Amino acid sequence: MNSSVNLTQSAQIIDGKATATAVLEEVKADVLEFRAKGIEPCLAVILIGDDPASHVYVRNKVEKAQFVGIRSLEFRMDSNTAEEVLLAKIDELNADASVHGILVQLPLPKHINENAVLEHIDPKKDVDGFHSENVGGLSQGRDVLTPCTPTGCIRLLKDTLGNDLSGLHAVVVGRSNIVGKPMAALLLKESCTVTVVHSKTKNIQQLCKQADIVIAAVGRPLMLNTDYLNENAVVIDVGINRIQLDGKNRLVGDVDFGAVVEHVKAITPVPGGVGPMTIAYLMKNTLDAARLQTKIF
Ligand code: GUN
Repeated sequence: MNSSVNLTQSAQIIDGKATATAVLEEVKADVLEFRAKGIEPCLAVILIGDDPASHVYVRNKVEKAQFVGIRSLEFRMDSNTAEEVLLAKIDELNADASVHGILVQLPLPKHINENAVLEHIDPKKDVDGFHSENVGGLSQGRDVLTPCTPTGCIRLLKDTLGNDLSGLHAVVVGRSNIVGKPMAALLLKESCTVTVVHSKTKNIQQLCKQADIVIAAVGRPLMLNTDYLNENAVVIDVGINRIQLDGKNRLVGDVDFGAVVEHVKAITPVPGGVGPMTIAYLMKNTLDAARLQTKIF
């Protein structure tokens, strides 16, 4: 093989795992400051039912809390727990001044009204940033608790492109409440020009092709290939899809990483990109929530 000429240029691989480790170290240092002032930051996680993926996520959250020195409380409830029982537990945690963050793991069993549950959490303890008061605050550009995954994506973008994202054209693929919509609001807060595309959008490829930043958060394995991306694009892949490839179980993103890696400026891998950032920002949000409640910093 002739290896003397290499005309293809590989993208910068955005290392979410390393960045998440750095964020956790920042949190660890901040926790020491809280403790020095007599406050023990505390996160309560509620898990209902026996969805295996949710159990893995919750275990990871509790482990990371332990790693940074945040006290964690875990409440597991049966899949047929009545909504009132869950709401009563949230009331109890809302009233407990030693608890700073409350997270109810989603999805919930069908008989429980997700919106009613999320609205029941004290907005100051809403470390997911899903309460309408925080959603509204974000859309007004106020400093509120914001959803962990898109907030982590902003950090990855700033580490890659510098702190000033203003004027860049960002295309968000997907419009979920958890990622797409808050992502668009956070990018707008950074003064990006933001386009949100979704299943009913007519010319997705053309719109994505124009973007300086592409956020893929659509939940369709390997959807974005070189037809969607220009060579200067910074690509953040939020997708986590389990598929069968060549008879093996594989974890892939919404972007066809292998097909585009030599044709974009920078890209997050799956796994090891956005995934670890979500938990790291949950820890950061727990400290922000503790600051809001204790007002000592
Ligand atoms: N399930 C999947 N993602 C999330 C998340 O960000 N927060 C909560 N509470 N549940 C989830």
